[in-house]
Amino acid sequence: MVRLSIWVGFGLLVVGLSTFGCASSEETPSEPAEKAEDMNPIPPEPDPELAAAGEKLFSEFNCKACHQVTGGDEAARGPEDGPDLHGIGLKRTQAWLRSHILNPRPHTVDSPMPGFAVNEDQLDAVVAYLQSLR
Ligand code: HEC
Repeated sequence: MVRLSIWVGFGLLVVGLSTFGCASSEETPSEPAEKAEDMNPIPPEPDPELAAAGEKLFSEFNCKACHQVTGGDEAARGPEDGPDLHGIGLKRTQAWLRSHILNPRPHTVDSPMPGFAVNEDQLDAVVAYLQSLR
């Protein structure tokens, strides 16, 4: 009788494990097929003149006080320093960059980066410059 209940217990365990296995594989369905317009994540190159104007503003607004634009020495950064912006043009979308310059807080709570009260033209230019960094 003891032996029988061991076997019954074992059987229940096997059934339980296989059911669990099935259930967990159902929870991770394969990714849905991507839409054609989502296939190329690389944004178009910004207008070079606009990007050049933006590079000037990047200096004028003193973004350089906190940001390097090449792969720099991370260890040499101060506590408030922002991340190196090399490659940012492929990392963030245009919409993200625009909104983050105006106010970084919705993106990064307690960001030490100030919001910049730039006008539309300035914003277009700075974002074009950032998008050229790839
Ligand atoms: C006082 C220092 C400071 C200044 C000035 C500053 N930033 Fe930042 N910036 C930061 C910090 C810190 C972060 C990281 C936290 C965050 O994402 O907000 C950051 C993040 C960013 C990011 C996102 C980087 C990433 O990898 O996600 C961009 C883009 C950026 N800054 C652009 C600018 C531009 C353009 C200016 C000038 C108009 C500027 N910053 C001025 C400190 C600064």
